[in-house]
Amino acid sequence: MALNLRGRSFLKLLDFTPEEIRYLLDLSKELKTLKRTGIPHDRLRGKNIVLLFEKTSTRTRCSFEVAGSDLGLGVTYLDAAGSQMGKKESVADTARVLGRMYDGIEYRGFSQDTVEELAEYAGVPVWNGLTDEFHPTQMIADLLTIEEKLGRLKGVNFVYMGDARNNMGNSLMVACAKMGLNFIACAPKELFPAEELVEECKKIAKVSGASITLTEDVSEGSKNADVIYTDVWVSMGEPDEVWESRLRLLHPYQVNKSVMDNANSEAIFMHCLPAYHDLKTKIGKDVGEKFGLTEIEVTDEVFEGKQSVVFDEAENRMHSIKAIILATIGV
Ligand code: CP
Ligand code: NVA
Repeated sequence: MALNLRGRSFLKLLDFTPEEIRYLLDLSKELKTLKRTGIPHDRLRGKNIVLLFEKTSTRTRCSFEVAGSDLGLGVTYLDAAGSQMGKKESVADTARVLGRMYDGIEYRGFSQDTVEELAEYAGVPVWNGLTDEFHPTQMIADLLTIEEKLGRLKGVNFVYMGDARNNMGNSLMVACAKMGLNFIACAPKELFPAEELVEECKKIAKVSGASITLTEDVSEGSKNADVIYTDVWVSMGEPDEVWESRLRLLHPYQVNKSVMDNANSEAIFMHCLPAYHDLKTKIGKDVGEKFGLTEIEVTDEVFEGKQSVVFDEAENRMHSIKAIILATIGV
């Protein structure tokens, strides 16, 4: 039977089979080609989506807006201050109202429970644009980028360095387990992913032929890596006070030249962005000056180096989000 994701919400990758993820990857590639060759694909003309952002965003918001426009959709954007949700109206009531007007709802915020509750009540597909726990739309873009750059997913040695229990660490471990990449979390044990999720991913990995490894050893962890991936050390929603302890814990896990030299010679560097690779941002500058650093989770040399694929990865957010919208709203 042909694969059909129509009507499905996209809340976390754990809810999807490898075949369904493959379908989204192939659709992303198809839509990327249409976009690159200038062939119109406004297949959802007449429909509307709403984007709820309780945290800030550049890539995710713009991807939904551009993808929506390319598909012919009407798009409404609401930031944290722009709706009644959570203040004067419950999540369930908001979901039932928006579900009567829109054909799909994107939500970026704090709790995974909120996006799950929206999906339970909306009656239309809900897409998770990042919660504290998971960032699933980023996963389709990342898998697409790896496949484009390395020509394969199965058997790729994928090393995630940094805060391995944040939304990116969790999501990448699930994505690798599902699609057969060997996932190595290289982090201090205080920042290893939760044991329950690790166990779940190990079971999934058994089926796909992948492995899940947690190590504190940078040299062991990055050896034979095909992908070195990192993310910010302090995520949105965390208090500024955690910077000091996080820097102390994660400084040995900075992605720098020696890490890249230890990886395979063809290895690529990835980051979901935004990144603190210099002091040209307000937070980067404040933190850098306070703690005497010029770069944080990745050095400028690696970020700007020829192994870095971060801007191709960022572009792929748009193509893959378009695929997720098209597949779940359907035509
Ligand atoms: N990677 C990512 O989600 O970026 P934004 O926070 O800019 O959306
Ligand atoms: N872990 C980061 C990801 C940003 C895309 C955060 O939640 O801020």
